[in-house]
Amino acid sequence: MIKILILAGGYSKEREISIKTAKSVFNELNNDKNYNIKVTNPDGQFVKVLRKFKPNAVLNLLHGRYGEDGYIQAILESEKVKYTHSGVLSSSLAIDKELSKKIFIKNNILTPKYLKYTYRDNKNKLKLINNLKKKIGFPLVIKPLNEGSSVNVFICNRYNFFKTLRKLIDYGEVLIEKYIPGREIQVAILADEVLGAIELKPTRKFYDYEAKYNPKARTEHIIPVRLSKNKYQELIKIALKAHKILKCRGVTRSDFRYYKNSFYLLETNTQPGMTSLSLVPEIAKFNNITFKNLIKKILKDASINK
Ligand SMILES: Nc1ncnc2c1ncn2[C@@H]1O[C@H](COP(=O)(O)OP(=O)(O)O)[C@@H](O)[C@H]1O
Ligand SMILES: [Mg+2]
Repeated sequence: MIKILILAGGYSKEREISIKTAKSVFNELNNDKNYNIKVTNPDGQFVKVLRKFKPNAVLNLLHGRYGEDGYIQAILESEKVKYTHSGVLSSSLAIDKELSKKIFIKNNILTPKYLKYTYRDNKNKLKLINNLKKKIGFPLVIKPLNEGSSVNVFICNRYNFFKTLRKLIDYGEVLIEKYIPGREIQVAILADEVLGAIELKPTRKFYDYEAKYNPKARTEHIIPVRLSKNKYQELIKIALKAHKILKCRGVTRSDFRYYKNSFYLLETNTQPGMTSLSLVPEIAKFNNITFKNLIKKILKDASINK
């Protein structure tokens, strides 16, 4: 009997999604006699729960702060327990959109031009606008440095720029990025191998929270992606490179914009959505890997590598 402790919930804005994911995974594994599954929302009692249950592996289904940024991974390391997905360092780097972009640039991976904006240091509006016009150009995207699910990601032009910027003031600092028109393509990697890619065609202005999670938003999922063989090879090579330079483990999903023959990497997600309707499971399914087998592969990877 393999004891698996599923981590779900957490404290980020993606809490509900994580709980939904845990439910689908629990349903898949719980009717399998080989598994003894327990689901927990890691809180102050987490270490106690961990020591009592003594899992063979922890299946991390958390997203965002504390679950995807190296915090929970550090606790799991110190408890010497095997766990799925990326480790402490990769998680901390990948969740930070500024640091990961710096690493991408250093490694010749194309990513949209950007500026980090700190609210308390920037008082001169005219100077900021001129700087943005010179370095980035409008329209542009304002986004938090370490959020997910398109939460608080805004596209804006010169005229609604300050109004939009004010919406994110509580973050203290944000990323201001060049808006890349074109297509939205995402690539899944599992255990250092390419699982596949998918294109998303939102009916909304962009691939925002609604487009991601509300079926009524009717985002079109295109798989296989419509790219020439050469372009597809180029794309998956970049995704694999990003996964490797960030030293990720298990599953990652890299988000790209494709414009004028170039792929722009927005981010690499170390805890990508894993509800049975999420993109990584969809890509896996297209490759004849059932949701259950995908989870099994993720668990296997956790045991092999640690
Ligand atoms: N620079 C950009 N140009 C065009 N669209 C963008 C840009 N940045 C973000 N977006 C849109 O917003 C979505 C979410 O942005 P992303 O950087 O992936 O953050 P999150 O962690 O919230 O997924 C993207 O999938 C894309 O549709
Ligand atoms: Mg994204």
